Amino acid sequence: MTRLPFISPISSDELEIIRAELPAATAANYLNAGTLGPLPRRTGEVMAEQLRRDVEQRQDPDLWPRLTQLQLAARSALTSLTGVGVEQVALMHTTHEAINVCLWGLELDASGSIVTTDEEHMGVLVPLRHVIARCGVELRIAPWVEGDAAFVESMLRHVDASTRAIVVSHVSWVTGRVAPLRELRDALPDGCRLIVDGAQSAGVFKVDPSDGWDAYTVSGQKWPCGPNGSGGLALIDPEAWLPTFGSGMQVEDYTQPLTSPIVADGRRFESSQEAMAPLAGFANSVGWLVEDVGLWRARAHGQALNARARMHFASFIDETALMGAEHLLCVDVGAGTADSIAVALDAQGISIRNLGPDRIRLSFGCWNTPAEIDAAVAAIGEEIAN
Ligand SMILES: Cc1ncc(COP(=O)(O)O)c(C=O)c1O
Repeated sequence: MTRLPFISPISSDELEIIRAELPAATAANYLNAGTLGPLPRRTGEVMAEQLRRDVEQRQDPDLWPRLTQLQLAARSALTSLTGVGVEQVALMHTTHEAINVCLWGLELDASGSIVTTDEEHMGVLVPLRHVIARCGVELRIAPWVEGDAAFVESMLRHVDASTRAIVVSHVSWVTGRVAPLRELRDALPDGCRLIVDGAQSAGVFKVDPSDGWDAYTVSGQKWPCGPNGSGGLALIDPEAWLPTFGSGMQVEDYTQPLTSPIVADGRRFESSQEAMAPLAGFANSVGWLVEDVGLWRARAHGQALNARARMHFASFIDETALMGAEHLLCVDVGAGTADSIAVALDAQGISIRNLGPDRIRLSFGCWNTPAEIDAAVAAIGEEIAN
């Protein structure tokens, strides 16, 4: 394999420091943050401390202040990922949950339609299925086509006066392509909500509320390198969404659950009795990622790794089989071979994702080295040749 230059804002010394913090990323050639990001060592420590307290002192007199403080820290981490104020975020456990909150927060009936794309995850599609069944709303699926203007045009072909919302991923999990949110918003009629599935973008992109979205989801366990059961939802106007399910934490005065006003901020969609360890872990991981690593540096590093992988792939795979130029690279590897390639790489300590029978996905994180990319692409090349 040819030796290629590698230019990243993260120096090789810094890369070693980052890697030393991520045991899972050194135990394997870890190219699968699109499924689960590696947890920083210090995140494990703060979570263990919360669990220790739960185990040793169930009657904790500080339970509520401790929970409140951890919730605040986790909400504050959400603001640093999404660019909105702390009153505009709601703690969630997955993007699945956040999408459900958005869909059930719309006023839907059989006169309405929702537009989505043909590259959405089941975390969007199954919630949509339920609202279609319950509310009779019409679902319209637009093809996700290449090019910003063509993408917007494709969506607009399905939008009319009945359209209550668009649901779209910022980054497609099956092609790594990026949706042009601002251009889409500018083209949409007033009153049509733009709900963004940020599972593959939050924790990589500097999410920008001025793009015009109404709601943006965060999966804490993926790119933010947080634990399972963490994440959230950013809402430009929390009061513009109907309540979904009730919880005691949502009222201003919990002693008056039937009459007290519902809080005006994002807490109106939160649950009660949150587990403390994931809250603490999420806040800690995001703090590490944003302050110690730097989001823009992590993104540029991922792009540089992607460009390197593409150059290697070009020697044995047609360019049309390579999708995504950011932190995800999806590769069509040939009919029915994706599973066996993923399994063979796993046996060599290289963790990637298979997407259906023909496609694999490589996720490039701030911990990956150029040598890991060289090794992974070489291993894929060998599997394809066999
Ligand atoms: C684009 C996209 N949306 C939603 C999800 C589901 O995320 P979560 O498990 O946080 O609900 C995924 C998970 O892979 C995803 O890639």
